[in-house]
Amino acid sequence: MADKGTFRILVTGGAGYIGSHAILALKDAGWRPVVIDNLTTGFRWAVPGDVPFVEGDIEDAPLLAKIIADHDIGAIMHFAGSIIVPESVENPLKYYHNNTAKSRALIEAAVTNGVKHFIFSSTAATYGVPEESPVREDTPTLPINPYGRSKLMTEYMLRDTAAAHDLNYCALRYFNVAGADPQGRSGQSTAGATHLIKVAVEAALGKRESVAIFGTDYDTPDGTGVRDYIHVNDLAAAHVKALEALIAAPQVCHTLNCGYGKGFSVLQVLDAVDRVTNQKIVRDVQGRRAGDPDSLISDNAAILERFGWLPQYDDLDLIVRHALAWERKLGDRT
Ligand code: UFG
Repeated sequence: MADKGTFRILVTGGAGYIGSHAILALKDAGWRPVVIDNLTTGFRWAVPGDVPFVEGDIEDAPLLAKIIADHDIGAIMHFAGSIIVPESVENPLKYYHNNTAKSRALIEAAVTNGVKHFIFSSTAATYGVPEESPVREDTPTLPINPYGRSKLMTEYMLRDTAAAHDLNYCALRYFNVAGADPQGRSGQSTAGATHLIKVAVEAALGKRESVAIFGTDYDTPDGTGVRDYIHVNDLAAAHVKALEALIAAPQVCHTLNCGYGKGFSVLQVLDAVDRVTNQKIVRDVQGRRAGDPDSLISDNAAILERFGWLPQYDDLDLIVRHALAWERKLGDRT
C-alpha cells in the first residue's frame, strides 16, 4: 500500500458536486487530496480549507507538470467536465472539448509526469438506451447523445493508454447520483439544476412552484421513467476503493457500474419527497423529454465483488432527507 503520508491525489473538479464529496471521502480515509478546478461551475467554498487548491485548467500542461511535481501526485481522480445532456446536443463541441480533449490532455500529463493511477467519472449515458435491464458492463455501449459519446471516448483513450504506458485506470459508470454529505459538509449546489431529486427538494422548500413529470407513457410499472439513484457518499466511497484497488494491483484496470441495482420511478421519487417533508409538492405532468430511456438500472455485481464496496445509504428516503437538509443549508447561497 502506498504511503498516505507523502503520496497525494489530484482531484480535478474538486470544487464541484461529486468531486467535493470525493475529497471528504479521501480525507476521511487518510488520503491527502489536492484540487484543481477552473471554477466555471464549482465553488471555492466547497473545498475544505486544509486542502491545497489550484484555480486552473486541466489542459494547462505546464501547470499540471508543476502540481504533479510539487505535491508528489501519485494518482488522479478526474471529475472535471460538463454534465448537462440537452446542452451537449445544442453545443456538442463544448462537450468534445471539455470532456474529451481536456481529458486527453490530462491523461497525457499523467503519462508525461509519471502518475500511474487514474480514476475517471464515466456515466451510464455511455449505454444509451440499453436493450437489457439491469445493465451489465458488457452491455453494448451505444450512447445517444454527445455527452455520452464524449465520456465513452475518454474510456477508449484510457484503455489504449493503459495498454501502451505504465498507468492503470478505473472508469466508474455512474447511475443517478443524488443526496448530500450526511454531516452537511457538502451537497449539490449548482443553480438551475435539472436532476429530479434536486429539483424536487427545491420545490419542497418553495424555491420552485412545481416539479415537471416528463412523460407518463413509458414502458414501466407506473408509466414514468425509472432510474437507479445512488447516494453521493456511497459513490465517493467507491472512488476510494478504486484508488486502493489500482495501487494494490497496478496491472489491472476496471470499468464498473456504480449504482445500487434498484429502480425507482419519477412518481416513487416524488412520493418519497412528500413522505420525508410531510407535504405535497405540486406535480406538473408534461410530455417526454428527448433522449430519456424508459428505465436505467445497474447490475452492480462486479463492483461489489471486486472492491468489496459496501453501500451505506441505499435508501431512497435517506437520500432525499440528505438532499433536503443540504438544500435548506444552502438557502439562497450559490
Ligand atoms: N425527470 C422528471 N422531471 C424533472 C427532472 C427529471 O420527470 O424535473 C425525470 C426524467 O425524465 C428521468 C428521471 O426523472 O426519467 C431522472 O432524470 P434526471 O434528469 O434526474 O437524470 P437522468 O437520468 O436524465 O440523467 C442521469 C445523469 C446523467 C446521465 C444519465 C444517463 O444525471 O449525467 O443519467 O441516462 F447522462
